[in-house]
Amino acid sequence: MWRATILTLFPEMFPGPLGLSLAGEGLAQGLWSLEARNIREHGLGRHRAVDDTPAGGGPGMVMRADVLAAAIDAAAPADDARPRLLMSPRGAPLTQKRVREFVAGEGVVILCGRFEGVDERIIAARALEEVSIGDYVLSGGEIAAMALLDACVRLLPGIMGGEASGEEESFESGLLEYPQYTRPRDFEGRAIPDILLCGDHAKIARWRHERALELTRARRPDLLARDGKKR
Ligand code: ADE
Repeated sequence: MWRATILTLFPEMFPGPLGLSLAGEGLAQGLWSLEARNIREHGLGRHRAVDDTPAGGGPGMVMRADVLAAAIDAAAPADDARPRLLMSPRGAPLTQKRVREFVAGEGVVILCGRFEGVDERIIAARALEEVSIGDYVLSGGEIAAMALLDACVRLLPGIMGGEASGEEESFESGLLEYPQYTRPRDFEGRAIPDILLCGDHAKIARWRHERALELTRARRPDLLARDGKKR
């Protein structure tokens, strides 16, 4: 079973939306598992402190490396083969390719940062891979972890109704997705493009590819600039 372990100060945020819809059905069916563990269990002293003031001064608090190490070691011993991720706006941007790689493995261990950040030394000491879900700052890694898990879990065998498993959609082809239509044929004076109703599947496929290319050129030219993309 594909296993996700989350280290967080807010375990009650999980499963949250991951308990519903595709992800939630997969959980209930035992296609994957989710364990949210409270970092505070490894906190220090009477107050179970997990953070302290930043060395060198400055605002906010920093999560302590010793506390995080204890939490990581308790959740994922050294022989646990799963990648250890640290959700952070500083990380490498998450891609569909990396999501596929996570799905091919045994699961993930995800450390969710809070406060101003984590002590830098924990990253090398426990070989954490920093992952970002975009160029904006969330108040903690939890929602980012949910986004990552949602992207992974929908690709697990047995989850998406089996067929094509999302291979046709955005980013799998390296292009943004072509526009979709359904009934009614006329909506407030806007018609479904005739070509989609012509029944010629080769022609429709060509039209869709052209629209995908056009959208990608207009909105995400950076995707076209990347090498190794099939057109
Ligand atoms: N934590 C805070 N902001 C984040 C982001 N953009 N991606 C991943 N983790 C985060």
